[in-house]
Amino acid sequence: MTDIKYASRIKAAKEKSGAVILAHYYQLPEIQDLADHVGDSFALSRLAATLDNEVIVFCGVGFMAESAKLLSPGKTVLLPVKDAGCPMADMAGAEDVKKLQEMHPEAAVVSYVNSTTEVKAHSHICCTSSNALRVIRSLPHGKIIFVPDKNLGAYAAEQVPEKEFILFDGHCPPHNETNAEDVARARRAHPDARLLVHPECPGDVRREADFIGSTAQIIAHAGSSSSMEFIIGTEEGILHPLRTQFPEKTFHLLSHELNCPDMKKTTARELLYSLENRQHQVHLDENLARMARKPLERMLSV
Ligand code: 13P
Ligand code: SF4
Repeated sequence: MTDIKYASRIKAAKEKSGAVILAHYYQLPEIQDLADHVGDSFALSRLAATLDNEVIVFCGVGFMAESAKLLSPGKTVLLPVKDAGCPMADMAGAEDVKKLQEMHPEAAVVSYVNSTTEVKAHSHICCTSSNALRVIRSLPHGKIIFVPDKNLGAYAAEQVPEKEFILFDGHCPPHNETNAEDVARARRAHPDARLLVHPECPGDVRREADFIGSTAQIIAHAGSSSSMEFIIGTEEGILHPLRTQFPEKTFHLLSHELNCPDMKKTTARELLYSLENRQHQVHLDENLARMARKPLERMLSV
């Protein structure tokens, strides 16, 4: 089937079911083009909490669809590919958080939204990569347990030196693979380019960056900067909105490792199947959902 045929069938199925399609910037270009809203984790979770649509189709990974369900418990939330997960989210379990809490009872647990519902349920507050610093600064606690991303946690610790941080040892595999050699190679090849990186990158990459931010912040920075050429240190899906929105500018990927296989599992075919068959619905344990909703809502109110 051609892309055009998928597009018209997706549009028809969407209208019939009253669904809205949300897609993360790391999704395939075809999915970003079919979506009603494309954004970073923060913008999409805020949208999920405010949209009127009966059905939300989340083109992303499990934790994103679960967050949408937590924030819109009365709605049907669909994840087109059931096993599209986040390896980093799966690195930390509720038991890990409880153990850290026992060791540091005076600390606040801040969980990156890229975490399981169980981990969120045992957290004081959630954050995304675009609001982590604001969320952490808003807390009265002097000590922070940060889960699961050690790189975003280390970045927060650098930026908020007045607080003490206990970092869980998790990471995003594609971002964590980037290193100082990639930076040196890219700088040699593109000496006039500015380096924009995601805080999920390790310290030796962040230290070399001209700008550090979430996907939405990277896009905004590329647009407002007077520079014409950029090296991008985040997942390659972001190249689509960058090149579409700023065709006069040039973008290079920092490393070919920056590809998240789970984010690429959703194709137009999967999206159509999801809409036509209401698959795969997110169902959460009620008690757990009640506990996990609070830290997400706290984040949205900061
Ligand atoms: P955001 O920039 O949307 O926070 O992206 C982080 C991420 O890894 C999503 O999987
Ligand atoms: Fe998880 Fe990294 Fe993939 Fe995002 S890019 S879904 S953090 S593995």
